[in-house]
Amino acid sequence: AVERTLSIIKPDATKRNLTGKINTKFEEAGLRIVAQKRIHLTQDQAGEFYAVHKERPFFGELTEFMASGPVVVQVLEGENAIAKNREVMGATNPADAAAGTIRAEFAESVGENSVHGSDAPDTAKEEISFFFSGLELVG
Ligand code: CMP
Repeated sequence: AVERTLSIIKPDATKRNLTGKINTKFEEAGLRIVAQKRIHLTQDQAGEFYAVHKERPFFGELTEFMASGPVVVQVLEGENAIAKNREVMGATNPADAAAGTIRAEFAESVGENSVHGSDAPDTAKEEISFFFSGLELVG
């Protein structure tokens, strides 16, 4: 089925001017960028977005990093977009990511891993509406 998923290009990647290279990976995989904006989150906003990880030992590090510079939030659309995006991103830890994936090529560490992608249809819906209104999604 055609799905939409929420993608974030993280501060480590925007800092190194990798937005275009990462978008090329998505587009070459058949994912269409139907919404996109560059924003700078506060640590509180990052904490709200990652609320599910609140109890994890890396929560402080994660939210501090996500507020450390601009991010590009985007909605990707395509056949099986959620799984396809996860395939293109590669494993969370770049050391485990398959060759050719975004994290294998660009990520610096498990924390500074260049991209985020929704993991399931319900979280995709929630995460898209965290950043975008329906009017901003242009398929
Ligand atoms: P993401 O897909 O954005 O979802 C949660 C993030 O937490 C994950 O990517 C990682 O960047 C981050 N994360 C996971 N494990 C660790 C860890 N051990 N230390 C720091 N950050 C982590």
